[in-house]
Amino acid sequence: MIDSKELIGRLFVQQGDITQMEVDAIVNAANPSLMGGGGVDGAIHRAAGPKLLEECRTLGGCAHGEARITKGYRLKAKYIIHTPGPVYKNGTSGEREVLGNSYLNSMRLALEYKLTSIAFPAISTGVYGYPRGEACEVAVTTVLGFMKEMEYMMSVVFVLFDNENFRIYSDFITGLK
Ligand code: APR
Repeated sequence: MIDSKELIGRLFVQQGDITQMEVDAIVNAANPSLMGGGGVDGAIHRAAGPKLLEECRTLGGCAHGEARITKGYRLKAKYIIHTPGPVYKNGTSGEREVLGNSYLNSMRLALEYKLTSIAFPAISTGVYGYPRGEACEVAVTTVLGFMKEMEYMMSVVFVLFDNENFRIYSDFITGLK
């Protein structure tokens, strides 16, 4: 049984641009079309180059909470895991479950591909409007729960672009240690 303290020790928080991360996979907060967009989706497509869109075209889209994996192309990361998070409406339309599934299905793909490091953005906290504090709690508890249940240790870096998310994640994870 993996010790919780050891698991929490594998969680890292960093402020910056996820496209620069040198990890096995970075996660993209996508939309169901997988055809790119603004925010982190736009940044990842710009950094990865046009071959990413070519591969995404072959995937036939992805439902909210599901995840798909592609190569990383021009990125330092070997893979990109694309997952559309939930569009936040009122907090009582199943958003929490869908957000949890985005993290869970991304971790499942990481396990399937035997990845040892992954970087997540704060999924759904931009255009999709998910309240940052709640989203952080769903993200961290889902990732920790998966590693504990599957007894699968990996390094997980939460890469936050904005100051507010960085502070929220830093405080939350420090509180766990
Ligand atoms: N690196 C890391 N995080 C980033 C970056 C970046 N380069 N750019 C933006 N972010 C952060 C935002 O600050 C926000 O905290 O990613 C988080 C998610 O915001 P969005 O990118 O707006 O994604 P989301 O809220 O999940 O909305 C998805 O937006 O871009 C479109 O195509 C996308 O339709 C989809 C929707």
